[in-house]
Amino acid sequence: MWTAWGSPAPYAAAVHAVGGTLLHTVGSLDEARTAVAEGADVLVAQGAEAGGHVRGRLLARELLRQLRDALPSVVAGGDAAVLGTRFQCSPEADVSPLYRQAVLAAGPGDTVLAELFDKGWPGALHRVLRNSTVRMWAAAGCPPPGSRPGERDMVAHRGGGTPVERYADVIPIGEIIGDLEAFALYAGEPPRSSRTFSQRPTLSIGSFRAPLTYSAPAKAARSCSYDAPATAPR
Ligand SMILES: Cc1cc2nc3c(=O)[nH]c(=O)nc-3n(C[C@H](O)[C@H](O)[C@H](O)COP(=O)(O)O)c2cc1C
Repeated sequence: MWTAWGSPAPYAAAVHAVGGTLLHTVGSLDEARTAVAEGADVLVAQGAEAGGHVRGRLLARELLRQLRDALPSVVAGGDAAVLGTRFQCSPEADVSPLYRQAVLAAGPGDTVLAELFDKGWPGALHRVLRNSTVRMWAAAGCPPPGSRPGERDMVAHRGGGTPVERYADVIPIGEIIGDLEAFALYAGEPPRSSRTFSQRPTLSIGSFRAPLTYSAPAKAARSCSYDAPATAPR
């Protein structure tokens, strides 16, 4: 069983009773120590380069260094890796073609780490592509929730007609119609070593043939401190 965002404690006894293994995602040394004390068998160290909701602001290399220094008997290293963003480009993912193309077009520096898309999940750090909503907010000086530009905009609606507001934590899945570019386009920071996700050798995107409708946005001036970690090689 794999847990994240909270304590593994409520599940530890049940998982171990059936001989299972309990994994827990951590983004800091403190969180790792707590998870071990609460029964986690395997720590998944999530660097701040990761896409979507992330636990901390440390880049993976620094997080691993801290974990290995402080918990050498626990952190034995590992050959496993967690991948997320690239699967948004798979044919099986029910996401809009625009989102897929935005991920494929992204290069180093095209993502930001912020708590911006917080409607539905307030106070949760996440990494997204730098899109029109991010640029609009940055241009306004990164104001707090409640005073952000376009706070009451309805940018799209679901298949059943339910509106989706700007700054919602909603992902642009297939049934949603509207200004999908303005959504939370969750994505990890592309590595410097390859220009786009599409060039990553482990990503199988051969059967994906959506039209190229997304243009990578011009980068916003870094006038406020939302973009915590700098791009770093993975
Ligand atoms: C669309 C998307 C949504 C995610 N949502 C969550 C989440 O809700 N909770 C969480 O712990 N991690 C979430 N993640 C992070 C993944 O679990 C994983 O750490 C990350 O995707 C790995 O980095 P990569 O995306 O650069 O491959 C999400 C990732 C993506 C791409």
